[in-house]
Amino acid sequence: MRIDILTLFPEIAMAPLGESMMKRAREAGLVEVQAHDLRDWATGKHRKTDDYLCGGGQGMLLKPEPIFAAIEELRKEETQVILLTPQGQVFKQAKALELSGEKHLIFLCGHYEGVDHRVIEELVDLELSIGDYVLTNGAIAAAVVTDAVVRLLPGALGDARSAVDESFSDPNLLEAPAYTKPIEFRGLKVPDILLSGHHAKIEEWKAEMSIKRTKENRPDLLEE
Ligand code: ADE
Repeated sequence: MRIDILTLFPEIAMAPLGESMMKRAREAGLVEVQAHDLRDWATGKHRKTDDYLCGGGQGMLLKPEPIFAAIEELRKEETQVILLTPQGQVFKQAKALELSGEKHLIFLCGHYEGVDHRVIEELVDLELSIGDYVLTNGAIAAAVVTDAVVRLLPGALGDARSAVDESFSDPNLLEAPAYTKPIEFRGLKVPDILLSGHHAKIEEWKAEMSIKRTKENRPDLLEE
């Protein structure tokens, strides 16, 4: 898989991708990730990438010309162009799984008040938001989506089961609480059931706890 990130802040987009599993996935050749500075496609003395809103309004918008030039240069036949924006559909694990099957993704990172709408009409296949809050720029969101997608590439996770067991594999249930050693810490004990060796009972307990935790933390998931 190849991922190109188009942003005014390439270093922000790349920073988390140089560590840990993301670094190993890149070194193993599972994914090639490159962040590009949108200014490289801007023309004129000042290499301007933004401008005032037509019709008035607060803030600045990314201009269409550098974005069209960049995407026309970077895209291939099977490219999905994804705009990171708080106006997008909310990114979920199912979408991460879907995107992990693509050959080439271009993440276009919004900034200021967003991008000229002609970019969305002509170039963008999908608008994604990483949650109902506003970040200063989409580069952080692109790093988040990249991380979630790359870890699902076959061979990226050391233990393939951890991707299956974890929260959101059943998208409507959170994972049960988990414990490690020591068995007793500051008077706090690991639940006896987990030490019983009784696998069927343990699975039953995990299923119960999963529902309890979902009710407490994410009741919205149970309504879906
Ligand atoms: N850019 C700013 N806020 C964002 C968000 N919540 N998701 C994706 N891109 C963004």
